[in-house]
Amino acid sequence: MAAAAAAAAAATRLLRLAPRRLPSPKTCPFSALPLRPPAPLAATSRWRRFCAAAQDSAPAPPKTPASAEAAGETVGEFRRRTRVADVKGGGDEGAAWVGRQLAVRGWVRTCRAQRTVTFVEVNDGSCLSNMQCVLTPDTEGYDQIDSITTGASVLVEGVIASSQGGKQKVELKVSKITMIGESDPTSFPIQKKRASREFLRTVAHLRPRTNTFGAMARVRNALAYATHKFFQDNGFVWVSSPIITASDCEGAGEQFYVTTLLSNSAEGGCLVNNIPSTKDGRVDWSQDFFCKPAFLTVSGQLNGETYASALSDIYTFGPTFRAENSNTSRHLAEFWMIEPELAFADLNDDMACASSYLQYVVKYILENCKEDMDFFNTWIEKGIIDRLNDVVEKNFVHLSYSDAVELLVGSKKKFEFPVKWGLDLQSEHERYITEVAFGGRPVIIRDYPKEIKAFYMRQNDDGKTVAAMDLLVPRVGELIGGSQREERLDYLEARLDELNLNKDSYWWYLDLRRFGSVPHAGFGLGFERLVQFVTGIDNIRDVIPFPRVPGSAEF
Ligand code: 4AD
Ligand code: MG
Repeated sequence: MAAAAAAAAAATRLLRLAPRRLPSPKTCPFSALPLRPPAPLAATSRWRRFCAAAQDSAPAPPKTPASAEAAGETVGEFRRRTRVADVKGGGDEGAAWVGRQLAVRGWVRTCRAQRTVTFVEVNDGSCLSNMQCVLTPDTEGYDQIDSITTGASVLVEGVIASSQGGKQKVELKVSKITMIGESDPTSFPIQKKRASREFLRTVAHLRPRTNTFGAMARVRNALAYATHKFFQDNGFVWVSSPIITASDCEGAGEQFYVTTLLSNSAEGGCLVNNIPSTKDGRVDWSQDFFCKPAFLTVSGQLNGETYASALSDIYTFGPTFRAENSNTSRHLAEFWMIEPELAFADLNDDMACASSYLQYVVKYILENCKEDMDFFNTWIEKGIIDRLNDVVEKNFVHLSYSDAVELLVGSKKKFEFPVKWGLDLQSEHERYITEVAFGGRPVIIRDYPKEIKAFYMRQNDDGKTVAAMDLLVPRVGELIGGSQREERLDYLEARLDELNLNKDSYWWYLDLRRFGSVPHAGFGLGFERLVQFVTGIDNIRDVIPFPRVPGSAEF
């Protein structure tokens, strides 16, 4: 009861604030697309547009004389091949293709021989759907039928026909089948029956051939595309932040060293005695490749701030690395982060950008990845489409850290970790807030105690909190972490001193506060957590092609 009352009180407080703080979807300054109710999905489907393009594209004639090509002076023009998605992805599921010739190159999912015909399901990765290919003994290449097994790669050529079966509108009547690469059915690890995710991680090189991982890869790709589109359409410049760095952005000491001191040229590997050391027995970094300790970056933010201090609005999108020993379903040692940085902006602008960005990419996926999202909705998380529609349509909840603590204490729920003003919120607290207290709505918590946040965050006037924000979503917890940055040189230097951080190594970062400093703010979104949120896949190791986690860097 108390929990519900506290949650309701907080929700009401917040909803009162929401219209002022959150731009309405219709007037949102960050919306590149006109934000209207989701259009009918089929009409805006990417496949459909693709499909039309493919139908119209006749093979382009070579630009150079045939003799030059024959002599090997040119590789000719790139032309996109017609893929299964081009045929089946349209609203008519391929009906317009009936009677047309088609060549499909792909991998055999199943092969079913009946008395007079053989059905071969071929998938080329362009969509979830296979092309059902119908072979008869008259088909050229039919003599190789015994080698058409699951996993083999084939070229099938024929004519599209209406399908008798109920599962698909069209199928390919095959005139010729060509074996490209055989696959031994006794040892091919991806069999028709459902394999566990744990098993599939041990065959991560082959798991993209399953429905789940194919769909995940396509949705991940679409999310990356939508990310670039959102920021590009809103005037942000993409900046490549360095992967090798000498500074620790988050100050959490969770960095991987980058060094050539551990040369493995010696037989059997590097000898510890060969690592150069100083007189007091420490590693002598001056003899290392960069003449000082260097690391894989944990965040591109500090470098991003330099370009925001010149170009106004920028974003980075690249891999980041954390040597935290967290064996959870939300942590990777190598993950991708999107980090926008906005100049002349405060925390409210930052929160508005984060909310609009998230709503934009979710809407993009719902409109453009319909078949894959239907798959996730059926097989991975029932109801995910409705949940994501809510994310697009409803305002996010805003809550201060102090109110969040009050809400959690008031809930009287037994948490594993203590709840007290000044302590960081744990995943169980974050999930309670977004899943229970606010019924699955994304929640932004702001104004955290300065002691639990990074040195660069702007101090609030109360002297106790900083202008930080975390965006929490159901199942995943923290999806975004951001803040307004401390743009006042004296405050920033004092904070570095307080934390015993070496000011000299931040000389260039401090320079931004010396020369034309401006209020600015930004955030970081963990890309894999976004893929988890959008697909419903519960383990982060299954939303990146090759997960790197403690104890495992296979593949
Ligand atoms: O909250 P974090 O640590 O913030 C930063 O790194 C800031 N420099 C961002 C900024 O303001 N530019 O990380 C940002 C996000 C988290 O909210 C989370 O989604 C993700 O990165 N993240 C991880 N994702 C997967 N595995 C891990 N080990 C992660 N650590 C953080
Ligand atoms: Mg964080």
